Amino acid sequence: MTELRRILVPVDFSACSRAALDYASFLAQRLGATVDVVHVWDAPPYLGPEVLLHIPGETRLTLAQFAGARAQRDLEHFLASVEHPGVVKGRVETGDPCDTILRLAAEGYDLIVMGTHGRSGLAHVLLGSVAEKVVRRAPCPVLTIREPGPK
Ligand SMILES: Nc1ncnc2c1ncn2[C@@H]1O[C@H](COP(=O)(O)OP(=O)(O)OP(=O)(O)O)[C@@H](O)[C@H]1O
Ligand SMILES: [Mg+2]
Repeated sequence: MTELRRILVPVDFSACSRAALDYASFLAQRLGATVDVVHVWDAPPYLGPEVLLHIPGETRLTLAQFAGARAQRDLEHFLASVEHPGVVKGRVETGDPCDTILRLAAEGYDLIVMGTHGRSGLAHVLLGSVAEKVVRRAPCPVLTIREPGPK
């Protein structure tokens, strides 16, 4: 049996991913592991990350700078209320969420903990599309956590 040292928790700021993070940080605290929390933002179709944004009264920023800074701010806010902050570190990535999570997972994580659903899916579908693809392709075990309460 391999040791459980590094846990990856992808979050989209949904209640389900909050439940996944709470469970992962509880596990990590018990097992002496660490939790890397990742949020992935993706540029909308037809708009590459290099697109320049002009916001009146502000300096011009690329979409990557603008969205990356917002994603970082939202992640910090999300992590501010984590139950065991000592074991948790956040990072922001950009790209397709599934591909990015799978690429990170290959960096040497022992477990992925993620929500069954996220912000945009249908409640009656067993797993959201990101969760489903990660469960099917991840190089390590994946623990899915559903949102507390009836679904
Ligand atoms: N952009 C993202 N960055 C990081 N993790 C994500 C991202 N999107 C989803 N996840 C992770 O995947 C879990 C399931 O979300 P998923 O997107 O699969 O479901 P959904 O939003 O309900 O449905 P869908 O996106 O297929 O419409 C989330 O709880 C979160 O752990
Ligand atoms: Mg989603």
